[in-house]
Amino acid sequence: MKKIAACLFDLDGVLVDTARYHYLAWKKLADELGIDFTLEHNELLKGVSRMDSLDIILSIGKLQLSQEKKIELADQKNRVYLDYILQMSDDEILPGVKDFLAALREKKIGVALGSASKNAPLILERLKITDLFDAVIDGTKVSKAKPDPEVFLKGAEALSVAVEECIVFEDAIAGIDAARNAGMMSVGVGDPSTLIKANLVIPGFSGLTPDSLFQQINEVTPKMEL
Ligand code: BG6
Ligand code: MG
Repeated sequence: MKKIAACLFDLDGVLVDTARYHYLAWKKLADELGIDFTLEHNELLKGVSRMDSLDIILSIGKLQLSQEKKIELADQKNRVYLDYILQMSDDEILPGVKDFLAALREKKIGVALGSASKNAPLILERLKITDLFDAVIDGTKVSKAKPDPEVFLKGAEALSVAVEECIVFEDAIAGIDAARNAGMMSVGVGDPSTLIKANLVIPGFSGLTPDSLFQQINEVTPKMEL
């Protein structure tokens, strides 16, 4: 049986559906700039940093702006996003997440967050799950965006565990790539046809226990290249 020492979680789209708030905030900005930004475009922003997201939106609109203006627009989007986050309550946590995190802790498995979001600590607080994490690596603590493995390597380091004993939970392709680049096992949360590079894909955490997950991981990992 493969030893599992830690589970590292992405935030947006894994623990909570904040992708729609990101979308609404970017959409407002795009409308103001006269850019036709769709839900399909929004898929490109998953797991991508705030400034890189803005660059993608500007490229959709074929707009080139100064760095100063871009910082101003990114701040503007974040203020709108924060308005949504501050109205969010703990019942927006995705089904089964809290029980799964608590069960990991009971089994003395390390639990860390690995998110590109600079708003991650605030969101954990709103969801009332800060205490369930042994380490929080957020967008303020990394300099390289996923698919670079930095965020997950820092998580493993903070928990003092070996990379091959870590499982990453991710909803974004860039996040699954980051886990692979870190030498960690990956569990995609969402659509198997999108997250094809993940070792295992689950629809969500509802009804999931650490034992059933580890069992599934053990069944697939010997057959799959990490
Ligand atoms: C990621 C989201 O988790 O965080 C991206 O998937 C987002 O959509 C990124 O752009 C940065 O978030 P924030 O909260 O720092 O703007
Ligand atoms: Mg995500």
